[in-house]
Amino acid sequence: MRKHVIAIDGPAASGKSTTARQVAQRLGFVHVNSGLFYRAITWASLRDGWFDDIDRLRQGVARLDIAPIVQAGVLDVQVRGVRPQSALQGRDVSARVAAVSATDFVRKRVLLLLRSSAEKADVVCDGRDIGSVVFPDAQLKVFLVADVRERARRRLLDYHVEPALAAIEEEAERLRARDDADRTRALAPLVKAADAVEIDTTPLASDAVIRRILELAAERGMRAPEG
Ligand code: CDP
Repeated sequence: MRKHVIAIDGPAASGKSTTARQVAQRLGFVHVNSGLFYRAITWASLRDGWFDDIDRLRQGVARLDIAPIVQAGVLDVQVRGVRPQSALQGRDVSARVAAVSATDFVRKRVLLLLRSSAEKADVVCDGRDIGSVVFPDAQLKVFLVADVRERARRRLLDYHVEPALAAIEEEAERLRARDDADRTRALAPLVKAADAVEIDTTPLASDAVIRRILELAAERGMRAPEG
C-alpha cells in the first residue's frame, strides 16, 4: 500500500518541527525533520574545515557517512556512527546551513535520504521544499507562517535566553537573513506549494495548530489508530 506523507513547510522557527513531531506522534507516523540532514552536513563541514571551499565541500559530502536512524517514532541523523543531536542546533551551524543547503550535491544527497525514509513508514516531514520538491504527491501539505518577532521570541525561549526586546530584534535579524537566503536560492527555494494549506501560527497556541492539522489529515483519511 502507498505510504502516507504529510508535508509541513515554512520559514525558520515557524514551529514546523515541534508541530510535525506531535502530529506524527498522534497519528503513529514517523517524524522526519529534513533540516537535521542539512544541519548534520553543515556540522561535519565545520568540524573538518571543508565548508568554505565548494570543491572540498563536494568531496566531503560525497565521502560523508550519514544515515537516518528511527528511534521511538522520530528520525534522527547519525554522522560517522555518532548522533550530534543538540550540537546541530548551535548558532554556528544555523549561520552557515543556508549556504551549504543551497548546493545541488547537498540537496541531491538529502533528497534521496528523505525519500528512502518514507518508503518504510508513514511520515510527517518538515522543511522548506517538502511539498514542492521532495514529496509533491503528499496527501496533505501545510505551510506554517508567523510574524518574525514572534518566531524570534520562541527561538530565544528554545535557547533558554530571556526574550528581551533587543535580543528579539537581534534574533529576528538572523531569521530574516536565513529566510532571504532560503527564499531566493535557485534550487528548491522556500515556497508555498500551490495546494498547501497556510496556517498563521502567530496568535495560536501549539495545541491549536496541531488540532487543525489533525482535522485536515482526518479529512484526507489519515486518522489516529484506535485505542
Ligand atoms: O528549525 P529551523 O526552522 O531553524 O531550521 P531547520 O528546519 O533545521 O533548517 C535549517 C536550514 O536547512 C534552513 O534554513 C535551510 O537552509 C535548510 N533546509 C532546506 O534547505 N530544505 C529543507 N527541506 C529543510 C532545511
